[in-house]
Amino acid sequence: MLNLSATLSVFKLFFNPSLCLPHSTVSNFSQLPIPLSRAFIRNEKAKEPDIRAVVLDKDDCFAIPHHNEIYKDYESTFRLLRETYPGRKLLIVSNSAGTTTEDPSGREASILEAATDVPVLRHSTKKPGCGAQIMSYFQQHSAETGVTHPSQIAIVGDRLLTDVMMANDMGAWGVWIKDGVVPEDKKSVFSKFEKKLHGYLTRRGYAPPTPQSPFE
Ligand SMILES: *[C@@H]1O[C@H](CO)[C@@H](O)[C@H](O)[C@H]1NC(C)=O
Ligand SMILES: [Mg+2]
Repeated sequence: MLNLSATLSVFKLFFNPSLCLPHSTVSNFSQLPIPLSRAFIRNEKAKEPDIRAVVLDKDDCFAIPHHNEIYKDYESTFRLLRETYPGRKLLIVSNSAGTTTEDPSGREASILEAATDVPVLRHSTKKPGCGAQIMSYFQQHSAETGVTHPSQIAIVGDRLLTDVMMANDMGAWGVWIKDGVVPEDKKSVFSKFEKKLHGYLTRRGYAPPTPQSPFE
């Protein structure tokens, strides 16, 4: 099946490879600095970005793929994240649970919400194509989230071509979970390819675009 949003992002990436590079990289979920704004300090002079909301990927980020619960070793980090970004400031955006194609009844999303106590976005376009849907969710609830601009959002995920690409495409910050929970020899060919691509691009001096805040 032709996925228009994925096709479009391949073109964007071809002309601008920096779009798949993260602003920060950690080995796994428990290594995330909290508050997440700390992940984006580049040098002493640069100001910490004003991160008001966080988007979490699920599979191989805080959960074993196809499991709708928090991986045991990550529970304390997850709790701290939920305390730091309460209510609608924390949002799960998965390409399985909550999508109209993989989870049309929303059953997976409901199970995940019950297990995590965090809202799961119901969306029709998969990552990296749902930046606008995410932005509209946070803005719709701006009284609670305080989000008025994508530069106030951090996206956390294990995939460069979906999670990180979406962050850059929407003008948000991206954190790459490089190793995650799935052992290296069991990773998909896509995720192995992404690691090679990351090395290739960074060795050639590519860097991610810095999200621009209109308020500074
Ligand atoms: C996460 O990464 C840290 C540091 O590399 C490591 O000590 C820890 O075992 C990892 N946790 C899991 C669950 O893989
Ligand atoms: Mg994932």
